[in-house]
Amino acid sequence: MLASSLAAAGLPCLDLSARAAAGPGVLARAVYGAAVRGDALANDPAYAEAVAARCRTIVPEGSLKWPVIRPNRETFDFGDADRIAAFAGRHGIGLRGHTLAWYGGMPSWTDAITSRAEAERVLSEHIERVVSRYAGLITSWDVVNEPIPDAPSSPGDLRPFVWTRTLGADYIPIAFRAAASADPTARLVLNEYDVEFAGARFKGKRDALLAIARRLVDSGVPLHAIGLQAHLFADRSIDRDGLQAFLREIRAMKLDVLVTELDVVDVSLPGDVEARDRQVAEMARAFLSAVAEVIPPSTILTWGISDRYTWVPTYFTRPDGLPNRPLPLDAAMRPKPLMAVIERYTRSAS
Ligand code: XIL
Repeated sequence: MLASSLAAAGLPCLDLSARAAAGPGVLARAVYGAAVRGDALANDPAYAEAVAARCRTIVPEGSLKWPVIRPNRETFDFGDADRIAAFAGRHGIGLRGHTLAWYGGMPSWTDAITSRAEAERVLSEHIERVVSRYAGLITSWDVVNEPIPDAPSSPGDLRPFVWTRTLGADYIPIAFRAAASADPTARLVLNEYDVEFAGARFKGKRDALLAIARRLVDSGVPLHAIGLQAHLFADRSIDRDGLQAFLREIRAMKLDVLVTELDVVDVSLPGDVEARDRQVAEMARAFLSAVAEVIPPSTILTWGISDRYTWVPTYFTRPDGLPNRPLPLDAAMRPKPLMAVIERYTRSAS
Protein backbone atom coordinates (compact mmCIF):
# COMPACT_ATOMS: atom_id res chain seq x y z
CA MET A 1 0.00 0.00 0.00
CA LEU A 2 2.95 2.27 0.65
CA ALA A 3 4.22 1.46 -2.85
CA SER A 4 0.97 2.42 -4.48
CA SER A 5 0.78 5.69 -2.56
CA LEU A 6 4.33 6.59 -3.63
CA ALA A 7 3.53 5.64 -7.21
CA ALA A 8 0.38 7.75 -7.01
CA ALA A 9 2.58 10.66 -5.90
CA GLY A 10 4.47 10.23 -9.19
CA LEU A 11 7.65 8.96 -7.55
CA PRO A 12 10.00 6.98 -9.72
CA CYS A 13 10.39 3.25 -9.50
CA LEU A 14 13.84 1.90 -10.32
CA ASP A 15 14.42 -1.45 -11.93
CA LEU A 16 17.17 -2.69 -9.65
CA SER A 17 17.28 -6.15 -11.11
CA ALA A 18 18.57 -4.89 -14.46
CA ARG A 19 22.33 -5.17 -14.79
CA ALA A 20 24.42 -3.02 -17.04
CA ALA A 21 25.12 -4.81 -20.30
CA ALA A 22 28.67 -6.05 -20.19
CA GLY A 23 30.57 -6.55 -23.40
CA PRO A 24 33.70 -8.71 -23.57
CA GLY A 25 36.28 -7.52 -21.08
CA VAL A 26 33.91 -4.94 -19.64
CA LEU A 27 32.99 -5.16 -15.98
CA ALA A 28 29.27 -5.68 -15.36
CA ARG A 29 28.66 -2.82 -13.00
CA ALA A 30 26.68 -3.22 -9.80
CA VAL A 31 24.21 -0.88 -8.20
CA TYR A 32 25.86 0.88 -5.24
CA GLY A 33 24.03 1.36 -1.99
CA ALA A 34 24.44 1.61 1.76
CA ALA A 35 22.73 0.77 5.03
CA VAL A 36 21.15 3.91 6.48
CA ARG A 37 19.94 5.21 9.85
CA GLY A 38 16.61 7.04 9.90
CA ASP A 39 17.54 9.43 12.72
CA ALA A 40 20.69 10.56 10.92
CA LEU A 41 18.84 10.99 7.62
CA ALA A 42 16.38 13.25 9.41
CA ASN A 43 18.86 15.27 11.50
CA ASP A 44 22.16 15.37 9.64
CA PRO A 45 21.88 17.17 6.25
CA ALA A 46 25.47 16.37 5.19
CA TYR A 47 24.83 12.67 5.72
CA ALA A 48 21.46 12.77 3.95
CA GLU A 49 23.07 14.59 1.01
CA ALA A 50 25.86 12.05 0.74
CA VAL A 51 23.37 9.17 0.74
CA ALA A 52 21.13 10.86 -1.86
CA ALA A 53 24.08 11.75 -4.09
CA ARG A 54 25.88 8.41 -4.05
CA CYS A 55 23.36 5.62 -3.46
CA ARG A 56 21.07 3.99 -6.01
CA THR A 57 19.68 1.75 -3.30
CA ILE A 58 19.52 1.86 0.50
CA VAL A 59 18.68 -0.60 3.24
CA PRO A 60 17.55 0.32 6.76
CA GLU A 61 20.37 -0.67 9.15
CA GLY A 62 17.96 -1.54 11.95
CA SER A 63 14.46 -0.24 11.25
CA LEU A 64 13.06 -3.44 9.76
CA LYS A 65 14.40 -5.75 12.47
CA TRP A 66 12.06 -7.59 14.81
CA PRO A 67 12.82 -5.58 17.98
CA VAL A 68 11.86 -2.34 16.20
CA ILE A 69 8.83 -3.57 14.26
CA ARG A 70 7.52 -5.99 16.91
CA PRO A 71 8.07 -4.47 20.37
CA ASN A 72 5.33 -6.85 21.51
CA ARG A 73 3.25 -9.64 20.03
CA GLU A 74 0.29 -7.43 19.13
CA THR A 75 2.09 -4.39 17.69
CA PHE A 76 3.56 -3.74 14.26
CA ASP A 77 5.43 -0.42 14.32
CA PHE A 78 6.51 0.68 10.84
CA GLY A 79 7.26 4.32 11.66
CA ASP A 80 11.05 4.25 11.26
CA ALA A 81 10.99 2.07 8.16
CA ASP A 82 8.29 4.19 6.52
CA ARG A 83 10.38 7.32 7.00
CA ILE A 84 13.34 5.66 5.30
CA ALA A 85 11.06 4.41 2.50
CA ALA A 86 9.77 7.96 2.04
CA PHE A 87 13.36 9.28 1.84
CA ALA A 88 14.12 6.69 -0.85
CA GLY A 89 10.97 7.68 -2.74
CA ARG A 90 11.74 11.41 -2.56
CA HIS A 91 15.20 10.84 -4.00
CA GLY A 92 14.37 8.14 -6.55
CA ILE A 93 16.52 5.60 -4.69
CA GLY A 94 15.73 1.87 -4.57
CA LEU A 95 15.10 0.02 -1.32
CA ARG A 96 16.22 -3.32 0.11
CA GLY A 97 14.81 -5.03 3.19
CA HIS A 98 16.83 -6.43 6.12
CA THR A 99 15.81 -8.82 7.66
CA LEU A 100 12.95 -11.29 8.30
CA ALA A 101 14.53 -14.22 10.15
CA TRP A 102 17.66 -13.49 12.20
CA TYR A 103 18.83 -14.71 15.58
CA GLY A 104 20.17 -11.27 16.58
CA GLY A 105 18.17 -9.31 19.11
CA MET A 106 14.86 -11.18 18.89
CA PRO A 107 12.32 -9.52 21.22
CA SER A 108 11.95 -11.41 24.50
CA TRP A 109 8.21 -12.07 23.97
CA THR A 110 9.20 -14.63 21.33
CA ASP A 111 10.78 -16.76 24.11
CA ALA A 112 7.25 -17.83 25.03
CA ILE A 113 6.73 -19.48 21.63
CA THR A 114 7.10 -23.21 22.19
CA SER A 115 4.97 -25.20 19.77
CA ARG A 116 5.74 -25.81 16.12
CA ALA A 117 2.30 -24.67 14.98
CA GLU A 118 2.51 -21.40 16.89
CA ALA A 119 6.03 -20.73 15.62
CA GLU A 120 5.03 -21.30 12.02
CA ARG A 121 2.03 -19.02 12.46
CA VAL A 122 3.98 -16.17 14.11
CA LEU A 123 6.90 -16.30 11.66
CA SER A 124 4.70 -16.52 8.55
CA GLU A 125 2.32 -13.82 9.75
CA HIS A 126 5.21 -11.46 10.51
CA ILE A 127 6.74 -11.98 7.07
CA GLU A 128 3.39 -11.60 5.28
CA ARG A 129 2.65 -8.32 7.06
CA VAL A 130 6.07 -6.76 6.61
CA VAL A 131 6.77 -7.88 3.04
CA SER A 132 3.29 -7.04 1.73
CA ARG A 133 3.44 -3.56 3.27
CA TYR A 134 6.47 -2.72 1.11
CA ALA A 135 5.55 -4.87 -1.90
CA GLY A 136 6.78 -3.27 -5.10
CA LEU A 137 8.91 -0.83 -3.13
CA ILE A 138 11.38 -3.12 -1.39
CA THR A 139 12.57 -5.05 -4.42
CA SER A 140 15.05 -7.32 -2.61
CA TRP A 141 14.90 -8.89 0.88
CA ASP A 142 17.49 -10.47 3.16
CA VAL A 143 14.94 -13.12 4.12
CA VAL A 144 17.21 -15.27 6.29
CA ASN A 145 20.23 -13.64 7.88
CA GLU A 146 23.22 -15.38 9.47
CA PRO A 147 21.72 -18.87 9.86
CA ILE A 148 25.09 -20.56 10.41
CA PRO A 149 27.09 -20.60 13.69
CA ASP A 150 30.60 -19.08 13.74
CA ALA A 151 32.24 -22.51 13.82
CA PRO A 152 29.74 -24.98 12.30
CA SER A 153 30.29 -28.55 13.51
CA SER A 154 28.85 -29.93 10.24
CA PRO A 155 27.32 -28.48 7.05
CA GLY A 156 23.83 -28.91 8.56
CA ASP A 157 24.65 -27.00 11.75
CA LEU A 158 22.34 -24.01 12.40
CA ARG A 159 22.34 -21.30 15.05
CA PRO A 160 20.15 -22.05 18.04
CA PHE A 161 17.33 -19.48 18.45
CA VAL A 162 13.57 -19.37 18.59
CA TRP A 163 12.95 -20.63 15.04
CA THR A 164 15.45 -23.51 15.07
CA ARG A 165 14.25 -24.48 18.56
CA THR A 166 10.64 -24.75 17.34
CA LEU A 167 10.87 -25.48 13.60
CA GLY A 168 14.36 -26.91 13.11
CA ALA A 169 15.88 -26.33 9.66
CA ASP A 170 12.36 -25.89 8.22
CA TYR A 171 12.24 -22.29 9.39
CA ILE A 172 14.34 -21.39 6.34
CA PRO A 173 11.98 -22.66 3.59
CA ILE A 174 9.01 -21.44 5.63
CA ALA A 175 10.48 -17.92 5.66
CA PHE A 176 11.30 -17.88 1.94
CA ARG A 177 7.88 -19.23 0.94
CA ALA A 178 6.08 -16.67 3.10
CA ALA A 179 8.13 -13.84 1.58
CA ALA A 180 7.46 -15.04 -1.98
CA SER A 181 3.76 -15.35 -1.34
CA ALA A 182 3.60 -11.79 0.09
CA ASP A 183 5.51 -10.29 -2.86
CA PRO A 184 6.11 -12.65 -5.80
CA THR A 185 8.24 -10.01 -7.54
CA ALA A 186 10.79 -9.48 -4.73
CA ARG A 187 14.29 -10.92 -5.05
CA LEU A 188 14.86 -13.20 -2.05
CA VAL A 189 18.31 -13.42 -0.52
CA LEU A 190 20.08 -15.74 1.92
CA ASN A 191 22.64 -13.55 3.71
CA GLU A 192 25.76 -14.68 5.60
CA TYR A 193 29.18 -13.49 6.80
CA ASP A 194 32.70 -14.95 7.18
CA VAL A 195 32.47 -16.67 3.82
CA GLU A 196 35.56 -15.19 2.18
CA PHE A 197 38.53 -15.86 4.46
CA ALA A 198 41.35 -18.42 4.58
CA GLY A 199 41.09 -21.03 7.34
CA ALA A 200 39.10 -24.14 8.30
CA ARG A 201 36.41 -22.20 10.16
CA PHE A 202 35.60 -20.18 7.05
CA LYS A 203 35.64 -23.21 4.74
CA GLY A 204 33.11 -24.71 7.16
CA LYS A 205 30.96 -21.63 6.75
CA ARG A 206 31.07 -21.87 2.93
CA ASP A 207 30.17 -25.57 3.01
CA ALA A 208 27.27 -24.93 5.36
CA LEU A 209 25.96 -22.07 3.22
CA LEU A 210 26.17 -24.19 0.07
CA ALA A 211 24.28 -26.98 1.85
CA ILE A 212 21.44 -24.64 2.77
CA ALA A 213 21.26 -23.12 -0.72
CA ARG A 214 21.31 -26.52 -2.39
CA ARG A 215 18.53 -27.85 -0.19
CA LEU A 216 16.36 -24.83 -1.03
CA VAL A 217 17.05 -24.96 -4.76
CA ASP A 218 16.53 -28.74 -4.95
CA SER A 219 13.17 -28.48 -3.25
CA GLY A 220 11.95 -25.60 -5.42
CA VAL A 221 11.97 -22.97 -2.67
CA PRO A 222 12.09 -19.43 -4.09
CA LEU A 223 15.69 -18.38 -3.41
CA HIS A 224 17.21 -15.91 -5.87
CA ALA A 225 20.54 -14.81 -4.49
CA ILE A 226 23.27 -15.25 -1.93
CA GLY A 227 24.20 -12.16 0.05
CA LEU A 228 27.86 -11.95 1.02
CA GLN A 229 27.92 -9.55 3.94
CA ALA A 230 31.66 -8.91 3.54
CA HIS A 231 32.51 -7.49 6.92
CA LEU A 232 36.19 -7.80 6.05
CA PHE A 233 38.83 -8.05 8.78
CA ALA A 234 42.18 -6.54 7.94
CA ASP A 235 44.06 -9.20 9.96
CA ARG A 236 42.61 -12.05 7.87
CA SER A 237 43.30 -12.92 4.26
CA ILE A 238 40.85 -13.54 1.46
CA ASP A 239 40.87 -17.18 0.32
CA ARG A 240 40.65 -16.34 -3.36
CA ASP A 241 40.56 -19.97 -4.54
CA GLY A 242 38.16 -21.11 -1.84
CA LEU A 243 35.84 -18.17 -2.40
CA GLN A 244 35.87 -18.62 -6.17
CA ALA A 245 35.18 -22.37 -5.89
CA PHE A 246 32.24 -21.50 -3.64
CA LEU A 247 30.97 -18.92 -6.13
CA ARG A 248 31.18 -21.38 -9.01
CA GLU A 249 28.84 -23.67 -7.07
CA ILE A 250 26.50 -20.72 -6.53
CA ARG A 251 26.65 -19.93 -10.24
CA ALA A 252 25.87 -23.56 -11.10
CA MET A 253 22.69 -23.20 -9.01
CA LYS A 254 21.83 -20.13 -11.13
CA LEU A 255 21.79 -17.84 -8.13
CA ASP A 256 22.71 -14.20 -8.17
CA VAL A 257 25.25 -12.67 -5.75
CA LEU A 258 24.99 -9.44 -3.80
CA VAL A 259 27.57 -7.84 -1.56
CA THR A 260 25.30 -6.69 1.24
CA GLU A 261 27.30 -5.21 4.14
CA LEU A 262 30.80 -4.34 2.99
CA ASP A 263 33.12 -2.59 5.46
CA VAL A 264 36.64 -3.22 6.72
CA VAL A 265 37.29 -3.73 10.42
CA ASP A 266 40.54 -1.82 10.89
CA VAL A 267 41.45 -2.61 14.50
CA SER A 268 44.71 -4.34 13.55
CA LEU A 269 45.86 -1.65 11.08
CA PRO A 270 48.34 1.16 11.78
CA GLY A 271 47.04 4.41 13.24
CA ASP A 272 48.43 6.47 10.35
CA VAL A 273 45.35 7.49 8.38
CA GLU A 274 46.83 7.34 4.89
CA ALA A 275 48.37 3.91 5.39
CA ARG A 276 45.23 2.64 7.05
CA ASP A 277 42.87 3.90 4.33
CA ARG A 278 45.13 2.36 1.67
CA GLN A 279 45.07 -1.04 3.37
CA VAL A 280 41.32 -0.89 3.91
CA ALA A 281 40.84 -0.18 0.19
CA GLU A 282 43.25 -2.98 -0.76
CA MET A 283 41.33 -5.51 1.33
CA ALA A 284 38.08 -4.56 -0.41
CA ARG A 285 39.79 -4.69 -3.81
CA ALA A 286 41.08 -8.21 -3.14
CA PHE A 287 37.60 -9.32 -2.15
CA LEU A 288 35.63 -7.61 -4.94
CA SER A 289 38.02 -8.69 -7.67
CA ALA A 290 37.78 -12.33 -6.54
CA VAL A 291 33.97 -12.18 -6.52
CA ALA A 292 33.51 -10.24 -9.77
CA GLU A 293 35.73 -12.66 -11.70
CA VAL A 294 33.22 -15.46 -11.08
CA ILE A 295 29.89 -13.62 -10.62
CA PRO A 296 29.75 -9.85 -10.98
CA PRO A 297 27.55 -8.85 -8.04
CA SER A 298 24.26 -7.18 -9.02
CA THR A 299 24.45 -4.86 -6.00
CA ILE A 300 27.24 -3.72 -3.69
CA LEU A 301 26.17 -2.17 -0.41
CA THR A 302 28.38 -0.91 2.36
CA TRP A 303 27.15 -1.15 5.97
CA GLY A 304 26.88 2.58 6.40
CA ILE A 305 28.37 5.16 4.06
CA SER A 306 30.45 7.38 6.36
CA ASP A 307 32.78 6.72 9.29
CA ARG A 308 30.54 9.19 11.16
CA TYR A 309 27.93 6.43 11.55
CA THR A 310 29.27 2.89 11.76
CA TRP A 311 28.46 -0.15 13.87
CA VAL A 312 32.17 -1.15 14.00
CA PRO A 313 33.25 0.67 17.24
CA THR A 314 30.38 -0.90 19.17
CA TYR A 315 32.03 -4.28 18.68
CA PHE A 316 35.62 -3.60 17.57
CA THR A 317 37.44 -0.69 19.21
CA ARG A 318 41.06 0.06 18.34
CA PRO A 319 43.69 -0.55 21.04
CA ASP A 320 45.12 2.97 20.38
CA GLY A 321 41.68 4.54 20.92
CA LEU A 322 41.63 6.16 17.45
CA PRO A 323 38.28 6.24 15.65
CA ASN A 324 37.62 3.39 13.21
CA ARG A 325 37.69 4.11 9.46
CA PRO A 326 35.78 1.18 7.93
CA LEU A 327 33.62 2.96 5.32
CA PRO A 328 33.99 4.68 1.90
CA LEU A 329 33.49 8.26 3.19
CA ASP A 330 35.35 9.70 6.16
CA ALA A 331 33.55 11.36 9.09
CA ALA A 332 33.55 14.65 7.13
CA MET A 333 31.86 12.94 4.14
CA ARG A 334 35.02 13.05 2.02
CA PRO A 335 35.61 10.02 -0.24
CA LYS A 336 38.44 7.69 0.79
CA PRO A 337 40.40 5.20 -1.37
CA LEU A 338 37.75 2.58 -0.52
CA MET A 339 35.20 4.64 -2.48
CA ALA A 340 37.46 4.62 -5.54
CA VAL A 341 37.67 0.80 -5.35
CA ILE A 342 33.88 0.50 -5.08
CA GLU A 343 33.45 2.86 -8.03
CA ARG A 344 35.39 0.45 -10.25
CA TYR A 345 32.64 -2.10 -9.74
CA THR A 346 29.54 0.08 -9.59
CA ARG A 347 27.55 2.43 -11.77
CA SER A 348 27.45 6.07 -10.84
CA ALA A 349 24.33 7.28 -9.04
CA SER A 350 23.67 10.16 -11.41
C1 XIL B 1 24.05 -4.25 13.30
C2 XIL B 1 23.77 -2.75 13.26
O1 XIL B 1 24.66 -2.13 12.39
C3 XIL B 1 23.88 -2.21 14.64
O2 XIL B 1 23.53 -0.83 14.63
C4 XIL B 1 22.97 -3.01 15.56
O3 XIL B 1 23.16 -2.61 16.83
C5 XIL B 1 23.27 -4.49 15.52
O4 XIL B 1 23.18 -4.91 14.18
N1 XIL B 1 25.39 -8.24 10.41
C6 XIL B 1 24.09 -7.89 10.11
C7 XIL B 1 23.55 -6.60 10.57
O5 XIL B 1 23.41 -8.60 9.35
O6 XIL B 1 22.17 -6.64 10.82
C8 XIL B 1 24.29 -6.08 11.78
O7 XIL B 1 23.83 -4.77 12.00
C9 XIL B 1 25.79 -6.11 11.55
C10 XIL B 1 26.26 -7.51 11.28
